[in-house]
Amino acid sequence: MNNIQVDLGDIKYPVLIGPNIIDKFCDNFESVGGKGEIYFIIDEVVFKKHFDSFTKIISKLDASVFCLPAGKANKTFASAMSIFADLNAKNISRDSTIIAVGGGVIGDLAGFISSCWYRGVRLIHFPTTLLSAVDSCLGGKTAINFRDTVNAIGTYHHPIAIFIDTNVLFGLPEREVSSGFGEIIKYSVLGASDITALLEDDNPLTVDTFGQIIGHSLITKEKFVKNDVMESEKRLCLNFGHTIGHAIEFSTIYNGEETLRHGEGVALGMVAISRICISLNFLSEEDLVRLLKLLKKFGLPTSFKASCIDMNREVLVRKIVDLAFKDKKRTSDSLRLVVAKGWGFPDIYPTNDRNLIEMGVKEVIL
Ligand code: GLY
Repeated sequence: MNNIQVDLGDIKYPVLIGPNIIDKFCDNFESVGGKGEIYFIIDEVVFKKHFDSFTKIISKLDASVFCLPAGKANKTFASAMSIFADLNAKNISRDSTIIAVGGGVIGDLAGFISSCWYRGVRLIHFPTTLLSAVDSCLGGKTAINFRDTVNAIGTYHHPIAIFIDTNVLFGLPEREVSSGFGEIIKYSVLGASDITALLEDDNPLTVDTFGQIIGHSLITKEKFVKNDVMESEKRLCLNFGHTIGHAIEFSTIYNGEETLRHGEGVALGMVAISRICISLNFLSEEDLVRLLKLLKKFGLPTSFKASCIDMNREVLVRKIVDLAFKDKKRTSDSLRLVVAKGWGFPDIYPTNDRNLIEMGVKEVIL
């Protein structure tokens, strides 16, 4: 087991990382501060896949369970209302502990519910996607989508602990793991040299190195969130690749279905912003080559053909640029683009230059 103590300034909590954490959950539950009535909000696919382990935990802790599908379409008020109705029907008190088992959708939704129920109950995250394990479980952001706005409604509510089972994550489908590496490679560009060394190592990935990479990712995230939970400056840097990446991710939704996973969008966004950084003399061509090599090594895309979603390239580029300018990190004056002024040196670059963004987008949209 490879434990970390997260220290965000006023807020501190442990992260338990290792193989078979799932089987050690009950033994560690009380020591991390879990108590009261216990209520699981769990992704139905994860529940089925690890049915025996979770059934044992649930029965040992005498917990209630709310099972739901994890798709982005369920991160809504309607889902929250169903869970609030269930909490009410089961008379779950303010002295309870909610345990979120699933990826980012479940974590954000369960976090939102935990922050609202009786103005806040204890929350434990048990992320079951690599993306949520290296990013969304830490930092206290909770959210639901509203109409067409992603994460429009949310709060900050920190967990009392995070449990990460590296065997559960190592056994995920390849594309799921690759998507997680989008965020991990981002930490590398932001300057996490421990991660860069592990990613650039030619030895095959083992559960052990996987656990180390996850641990280093969370320690890196902690550095950017510490004393800036509300994202006034430093935390914004975690959005490297995200302004254009999100715009690509949402512009390529085809017949209501996502074409690109979040980490894949971030990968394309990082390539686009790196090209912009080269044009601003912040990055070198060698930095971009290094990034492309890492993205390819971990099965991530470095370009996307508009024809894959039956679209004209110019139309798709315009759609992406328009959406990038709606980025929620913008101020009333400008976009706050996260750039890298050299590998490991992120910074904020306010801009309204549409041509600059378009040039970056054209690097990846073919
Ligand atoms: N996912 C970026 C953040 O938590 O700030």
